[in-house]
Amino acid sequence: MAKTTGNKPTAGGSLSDQKSEIRSMLPSVLGCTILLLLGIVLGMCKYPVVIPVVLFFLGLHLWFFGKAKVRLFINLGFLIAILIFGVDVINSYPHVTPLYIPVASFTMLTMLLFNDLQLVFMMSFIASTIASLMTGSPISFMLTFFLSGLTGAYAVRGARTRGRLITAGIYVGLIQVLCALLLNPVVTPATFELVIKPLLINGFICFFIVVSTLKIFETIFGEVTNFTLLELADASSQPLLKRMITEAPGTYHHSLIVSNLSEAAAEAIGANSLLARVGAYYHDIGKMVTPEYFTENQLVSGNKHDDLEPSMSRLVILNHVKEGIELARKHRLNQKIVDFIPQHHGTGLIFYFYQRALEEANGQGVEEENYRYPGPRPQSRETAIVMLADSVEGATRSLQEHSSSKIDDVVRKVINNRFIDGQLDECNLTLREIELISSTFSRVLTVMYHGRVRYPEKKTNGHHNKKSPDENSHPPASS
Ligand SMILES: [Fe+2]
Ligand SMILES: [Fe+2]
Repeated sequence: MAKTTGNKPTAGGSLSDQKSEIRSMLPSVLGCTILLLLGIVLGMCKYPVVIPVVLFFLGLHLWFFGKAKVRLFINLGFLIAILIFGVDVINSYPHVTPLYIPVASFTMLTMLLFNDLQLVFMMSFIASTIASLMTGSPISFMLTFFLSGLTGAYAVRGARTRGRLITAGIYVGLIQVLCALLLNPVVTPATFELVIKPLLINGFICFFIVVSTLKIFETIFGEVTNFTLLELADASSQPLLKRMITEAPGTYHHSLIVSNLSEAAAEAIGANSLLARVGAYYHDIGKMVTPEYFTENQLVSGNKHDDLEPSMSRLVILNHVKEGIELARKHRLNQKIVDFIPQHHGTGLIFYFYQRALEEANGQGVEEENYRYPGPRPQSRETAIVMLADSVEGATRSLQEHSSSKIDDVVRKVINNRFIDGQLDECNLTLREIELISSTFSRVLTVMYHGRVRYPEKKTNGHHNKKSPDENSHPPASS
């Protein structure tokens, strides 16, 4: 945060202020210019020039809701441009009824790509209004496509199978027919042929358009849908997960537990549970580069860090984030998955090695900042959940006793430490959601460890392995 000195701004400061002001105005100027050009083009093509005004209010609405991101404007504008082009093409064939225009497919795509009900509502209104204005159709046309657009979007919400998309297409067709019947209850063979049949077929056209173009839009827009997330979760086909199973089995097992915890917590607070689960699978892929330096992969061999200076251990631990990002980029993982790699540690402290460095240097010349991860801190609810699940998993794994109350104590202490450290400051989690996440973690972990404590091992002459430091390196829950 910039310090307020109360001094007059310097000449350099006012210049940079002006520059940043111009920069912040640039998207608005660019948007208005595009809308003006669109109005001119539509006017030249004899289409209603009110369309750019409608789009202007769409932009204004997004602005007021704090969603005014240039990329989102471009993506939605691209979809609307395709709609305008498609309607223009259909208009050039006078014998084709506009009832075949797959307006609902645009709202279905918006829902699958952005998973945002507000955007869907706006897109449904905009798409049906534009199609109605450009084809010179009555208000009933606009109303029918507005309602079918909403129906299609609600039907594909959270879809993970193609079956859901087919069902959505059928719903779209049926709602359109229902609207047509409510607007004109008298059905003759002519109205069946000219209205009912095209509206039913329209639902199937919507389904085909969504299925055939979803992957293309996903790639162009850089978004990740549930279908891609499911592909990424398949360990038998994803090279990174396959490699982790053989090269860092302990890390793979740790990632599975973190993913289970994250999925349950995300579901509890209504976040994207599939994104949280898949993000957790990939959050520690960087450990595959030097797996033997991480607790979960150290079996009977000694702790590799015993022979290293704390400053060297710090480098190895920090490196798993850097290596992870590089591996993810190399395998072209979506940015939304890559985000989990740096954000699951945020700017957290590598506590264990920081303490060791302090002890060895008698508290002299050891900068805390050097023992912190580079960040950024979690920017979404899903990355924050994975951060907390990761910390909680490490802390409960090292417990001697896994009773329900002990687990609950540790979970609360670990989450509280993260909260006090400011790691949850940028992720929009509310206190109520943090409480829900905490109770979900306790419940899942209690059930998970319940089976283990019921089967005590036979006493042998074996020895306990020396505890290795955990890469999470939060303050030990018991301290
Ligand atoms: Fe990690
Ligand atoms: Fe982890």
